[in-house]
Amino acid sequence: MAEVPSSVFSKDSEILVKQSWELLKKDTTTNAVIFFTNIFEIAPAAKDFFPFVKNSTVPYEQNAKLKQHATLVFKMTGDAAVQLGEKGALEALGPGLKKLATKHVTAGVVDAHFEVVKAGLLKTIKERLPELWSTELNQAWADAYDALAGAIKIEMHTQI
Ligand code: HEM
Repeated sequence: MAEVPSSVFSKDSEILVKQSWELLKKDTTTNAVIFFTNIFEIAPAAKDFFPFVKNSTVPYEQNAKLKQHATLVFKMTGDAAVQLGEKGALEALGPGLKKLATKHVTAGVVDAHFEVVKAGLLKTIKERLPELWSTELNQAWADAYDALAGAIKIEMHTQI
């Protein structure tokens, strides 16, 4: 399987991602719900992927299943992003990558959807860390996300 080049993820980016994740993970669930709220604002059609959102009228912050799912995804993204520099995307995502890719293939996720999630993530970081935010921080997370999404997409392509 092709490895995602880690060279695009600089040492400076690694430091910025680590610093900001330390703050973001202090309130993972709140940040995760904001992350998914942003995704659904950017692309309302994305709600259709998640039955617990599509078929619910409960506000997102009171929707237990959404909170659980958003927290899982947000935490995996951040926890993998901080390991990217040392391990590369494949190892950072861990041995569950194959299964994770299968879940996404089965759910009907395609490459274009990853851009929406990326936009939701970057918007969340800007909103939640206004004092730390900079174009460099934004780029660092964009690069980290691209490396992780790239590894998931490559694995998905081997299964389609
Ligand atoms: C499920 C992570 C991108 C849609 C999941 C799960 C994780 C995850 C950890 C839970 C898997 C489990 O239940 O064991 C990520 C990461 C992404 C990403 C780290 C990007 C770097 C996307 C995108 C979409 C998406 C772009 C498109 C809408 C879904 C759906 C599920 C899911 C629908 C539920 C699948 C199921 O349980 O049937 N994702 N995801 N994800 N993700 Fe993603």
